[in-house]
Amino acid sequence: MLVIVGGSMAAVKAPSVLRRLRERGAEVRVIATRAALAFITELSLSTAADGPVGTDAHWFEARPDALHLTLARVDAAVVVGASAELLAGAAHGHAGDLALATLLSVRGPVLWVPAMNELMWTHPAVQANAATLRGWGHRFLGPEVGAFGTRGEGRGVGRMSEPEDIADATLALLKGDASPAPVRDLVGVRVVVSAGPTREYLDPVRFISNPSSGKMGFAVAEAARDRGADVTLVTGPVTLPDPAGVRVVRIESALELRDTVMDAARDAGIVVMTAAVADYRAATQSGEKQAKVAGDVTVHLTPNPDILAELGREKGDRVLVGFAMETHAGVERAAGKAARKNADFILLNYPTREGTAFGGDDNQVTLVRADGSHEDWPRVSKREVAERLLTEAARLLPRQG
Ligand code: CTP
Repeated sequence: MLVIVGGSMAAVKAPSVLRRLRERGAEVRVIATRAALAFITELSLSTAADGPVGTDAHWFEARPDALHLTLARVDAAVVVGASAELLAGAAHGHAGDLALATLLSVRGPVLWVPAMNELMWTHPAVQANAATLRGWGHRFLGPEVGAFGTRGEGRGVGRMSEPEDIADATLALLKGDASPAPVRDLVGVRVVVSAGPTREYLDPVRFISNPSSGKMGFAVAEAARDRGADVTLVTGPVTLPDPAGVRVVRIESALELRDTVMDAARDAGIVVMTAAVADYRAATQSGEKQAKVAGDVTVHLTPNPDILAELGREKGDRVLVGFAMETHAGVERAAGKAARKNADFILLNYPTREGTAFGGDDNQVTLVRADGSHEDWPRVSKREVAERLLTEAARLLPRQG
């Protein structure tokens, strides 16, 4: 087992991680980056590891072997106090110091335990680097929500996981436990997600609806669950099975969706409306099947309540996220919707782009805020869109304490 200690205030917790790993029988090698040694001494690390510590100074000592290759011969590696710099270096294949050169040479599983300020962790550059590493099969533990920084002055996502949890995750990695360790930044947060289409019945056998598959909303619910949230998924008729560990309520009409969402949203921290709500329902619903008649038929429709707008009217501290599908003037129209409905942001997607939105597994969205500011996200899986959405929403949650 290789433990790499990165340059973060959390490096001071590294000896505690090393001690726990050794107590539990792991054979531990240690590398400390140059920045790590600004926070913790080589001596305290080598005492806890009961062995020498690899540093850049030792890397360049005259020796017969290549230190990075020797240190890389391990069954797994864990990066404790992983900084934005280390993530960036690894995601781009840099090998300019002992830690990065060794990471390039490790062939076993790698676990990252990030620790940095929330502003840094939530920056798209850091998230993109973490996504690259996840794409290569690297795992992540944390960062958690809580106090961080030199004097505990920061609060938010960014705090390093506790040494006991790091030891657990590291030993699970050694045992080949393949389950990815997600970011757990939504522990204790209630998240309500709406998904799928609604059905507006004209009579018992006919309805107005749309082709929403529910995939986007289910991806948000699953991602929120994996990040530790308490999740309620309110979905219209879709063919997807109930995700494990999520409270699922199946509804049909917009009115049922409204009642269920409003009820569930009362103590929610985040509400994400991905549902493709039918804008209208039949003004009168026939209890009996309507037989056809000769000639044209007129159906009288009446508007459905706008659920997102209703949530927006009593917004409080809740983070509200909507979706919008536009064929033209997308950003402008989506910004108008965010403002009208008092949503924190809207993810705009396009029905016309191949393989995205309705039914597809990928999505290409633009995040749009009420003030018109916006960011184009690349085309990625709906799960990855969900992860980015939740990172953005978590950043907007009110700070505790
Ligand atoms: N929404 C809602 N209740 C409705 C209609 C929409 O909560 N009755 C939510 C959707 O879940 C989505 C966002 O509002 O998050 C989409 O808004 P909007 O684009 O206004 O819906 P459209 O019906 O597509 O609007 P328009 O036809 O005006 O473009």
